[in-house]
Amino acid sequence: MLYTLSDDLIDKIKENNDIVEVISDYIELNRAGANYKACCPFHKEKTPSFMVSPTKQIYHCFGCGEGGDVISFISKYLNVDFVEAAKILADRAGIELEKKDENNEIKIRNEVLFQINREAAIFFYKNLRNNPKAVAYLRNRGIDYETIKNFGLGFALDNWDDLKRYLVKKGYEEKLIYKAGLIVERNNKNGYYNRFRNRVIFPIKNNRNKIIGFGGRVIDDTLPKYLNSPDTPIFNKRYNLYGINNVIKYSEDEKVFLAEGYMDVITLFNHGIKNAVASLGTAFTEYQAKLLKKYRRDVYICYDSDEAGQNAVNSAFEILNRYDIKAKVVIFDRAKDPDEYLRKYGINMFNELVRNSLGFIDYKIHYYKKKYDLQTTSGKIDFTKEITKLLSNIKSSVEKDVYIKKISQETGISPEAINRDSSGFLYSSKDKYIKRHYRYTNKDKISPVKTILKSGYMTAENSLLNLIITDKTVFDKINDEFKPKDFLDKIDIKIAEKIYDIYEKRSYIDLADLKEICNDKELNKLEVILDLDIKISYDSKEKAVKDYMSVIKRQSLKLQNDKIKNQINEIEIKKDKSVDDIKKLKLLLQQLIKIKEKIRLHDKFH
Ligand code: CTP
Ligand code: MN
Repeated sequence: MLYTLSDDLIDKIKENNDIVEVISDYIELNRAGANYKACCPFHKEKTPSFMVSPTKQIYHCFGCGEGGDVISFISKYLNVDFVEAAKILADRAGIELEKKDENNEIKIRNEVLFQINREAAIFFYKNLRNNPKAVAYLRNRGIDYETIKNFGLGFALDNWDDLKRYLVKKGYEEKLIYKAGLIVERNNKNGYYNRFRNRVIFPIKNNRNKIIGFGGRVIDDTLPKYLNSPDTPIFNKRYNLYGINNVIKYSEDEKVFLAEGYMDVITLFNHGIKNAVASLGTAFTEYQAKLLKKYRRDVYICYDSDEAGQNAVNSAFEILNRYDIKAKVVIFDRAKDPDEYLRKYGINMFNELVRNSLGFIDYKIHYYKKKYDLQTTSGKIDFTKEITKLLSNIKSSVEKDVYIKKISQETGISPEAINRDSSGFLYSSKDKYIKRHYRYTNKDKISPVKTILKSGYMTAENSLLNLIITDKTVFDKINDEFKPKDFLDKIDIKIAEKIYDIYEKRSYIDLADLKEICNDKELNKLEVILDLDIKISYDSKEKAVKDYMSVIKRQSLKLQNDKIKNQINEIEIKKDKSVDDIKKLKLLLQQLIKIKEKIRLHDKFH
């Protein structure tokens, strides 16, 4: 052979030949959950037992036991040897096979950089174990030992050259330690000192599980909060996603969660969500989209709830769409990011948010609703303008109609007026997402429209009722503080009244009995409630119940708040205010202050 097949080159060939795409060139694959399925090409069969995993980039036949990676598939299927198969795939991906020795120097140098990072990570990891202050910091943030181990978290001591000396002693040149980004050149060019000092260390791994760089966080309020490795020959933030190694290692799930920060990924992991990545505070890039696309997951964007985060959602959406990756946004209304949300409300409530996540249009409605003040006329107009711009791209008139009704309800602007504006010619939308989305994925079908303009409280009510019905101890626990009238939905109140009545007399609910005394509307609702499949372990049930009650209470306070605001508004827009009006206004303002204080207290303690 005139060319060499180095490990790196083989990796490159595999990376650029997605196994699902390659196998699809030869046989027809059908999606089956996170995997793909077909009748095995290597033995005769009628029911498919040949599986292809995009996550692991392997295939396996449960019938005949045949299996391997993309190169071995080609080798076996086309009956050629390994090297020939690799060459076919290299050609397919437009990769040139290198002549012997070419680039070898760079490759060897990079290999050393990986080694240096590995040694450094071990050094930091050992530091952490001997540093109670740093361990306490992580513990306080709810991170357990398993998680620390999985991410290889470490600590850089408050020391100018311990790491440098350690690595030099291991035989690595200062020049290369510098190239790896671990040490910084002194101002007078006279030697180097440690880049990371007195910081918790987050090793960053690539999708081949190699450490390419580090992030370091202070454990107090010093600035900058984070420090990262600079760009090096093996590290560039824009090409990688923190946590991508876990996505491959752990999960067969169809989702991947996309967050902003190290701590989001780590806390998600700590709560059992191992398929999470972070774009590390920089804008989401095309390279990162490409990287995700390989794993064929639906992306759930979990960016921070602040303005910057929400703006970043828009551009991430746009890029993901360009790569035909299905995406949704999870909204963290009551916390600044997933990390905070999980620690405050727990995994059940988090999953609830995921269930309520928004597709593109629903997200836009949510976004503009926040941006503009719908209590004012100009706010309503601006809001409606933005939304009609979006709607003008929706081809399905039924779907459009549903959105128009919803917006009309929100703003009080007539559906006809919205419809007129959204009929198109006024706006040449720059939103490629919509056009593509509706052209390619929504050809004929009308996607179900979710009632997103309300928050998760409906689900909280349903879930709570479900738990009460199925478990009397839940009823016993909450009976004192949570009465049927505390539910917000009228039908829920009626159902709750019946349940509470039954429990006063009996220690269990006979569903047939309950149904007997419900009217049609209540029966329908009951169906929905009983249909919920709530998986909660015994231990977390109490917490879940508390969370549900808290969500409902919060929504109730918000409704009261909105109602008062509306009343104030009505008086305020009057040209001539009577003495009574002024009196009433004062009263309402006092009420508003009270309710706002209640909301503040609620948010603080829940
Ligand atoms: N970031 C950075 N440098 C900074 C601030 C942030 O590189 N000075 C990056 C980090 O990768 C960080 C991400 O941007 O994880 C998101 O920033 P932020 O939300 O502030 O970080 P969190 O991970 O939420 O950090 P924490 O919860 O520890 O405050
Ligand atoms: Mn954060």
